[in-house]
Amino acid sequence: MKVLIATDKPFAKVAVDGIRKEIEAAGYELALLEKYTEKAQLLDAVKDANAIIIRSDIIDAEVLDAAKELKIVVRAGAGYDNVDLEAATAHNVCVMNTPGQNSNAVAELAFGMMVMAVRNMYNGTSGTELKGKKLGIHAYGNVGRNVARIAKGFGMEIFAFDAFCPKEVIEKDGVKAVDSADELYSTCNVVSLHIPATAETKNSINYALVNKMPKGGVLVNTARKEVINETELIQLMEERADLKYMTDIMPAANETFAAKFVGRYFSTPKKMGAQTAEANINAGIAAAQQIVGFLKDGCEKFRVNKK
Ligand code: 3PG
Repeated sequence: MKVLIATDKPFAKVAVDGIRKEIEAAGYELALLEKYTEKAQLLDAVKDANAIIIRSDIIDAEVLDAAKELKIVVRAGAGYDNVDLEAATAHNVCVMNTPGQNSNAVAELAFGMMVMAVRNMYNGTSGTELKGKKLGIHAYGNVGRNVARIAKGFGMEIFAFDAFCPKEVIEKDGVKAVDSADELYSTCNVVSLHIPATAETKNSINYALVNKMPKGGVLVNTARKEVINETELIQLMEERADLKYMTDIMPAANETFAAKFVGRYFSTPKKMGAQTAEANINAGIAAAQQIVGFLKDGCEKFRVNKK
């Protein structure tokens, strides 16, 4: 059996070593395609792969057509919007993710960006503190929960909204569960986004919603760029000079944001929320173990596509 790691954005070497150990202990072979620049390289590498470990790499029908021997794709991470699930099912390929394995890294980066925002992008002027501010966690999954845990250390007042998570689950963490996204944005000085990119959430963070934030509001996005209605956010930030937008996923309109909103807009150059050795090890090794469990025992825990 051949397991391919196909990562445009490579794992830390220590994680690749750990994955190799798991794969070779199972008697399988490991192949590595990192930092590829052309889709043709991916199409070529998947030809004889039985299993693939990816990150945000796009697995579409063309890739699945090329991967004639493929049985399983594991997205080492949480969001699997980069995989065409229907095409995978049609190709009889199992798709899994590794929920929770990189969530602390993403949560820590959210705080890195929050501090940067309230300290005026580290420009030397007097800023403010996170302590005492109201933090809104938009979606209370694995990352949201880690954000809540860290926010307690900062002394923030914590609120969350999650349409799919019972209020009792949120409140047992000492977090105030609100009834709607509107209520979250109206209440909180800082909102941290943790929603996945789905048909329902795409473009949902729009003018009307963000405009509910109090004066000086900070929106932090370590989720997906697709959830932001960029045109409307630009319009709102033009009208409201008090708002700041910090993102780990460079918007399509990055140049416009950067030119118009100097001092209140920041984007990482490449999504780096999960770019820590720890997250790479956790997610990468979990992916390798899930592949071995699937190929050897048919274990489908963490499957995200239909059969
Ligand atoms: C995830 O969905 O797990 C995060 O967005 C991290 O993505 P990455 O592996 O592409 O950095």
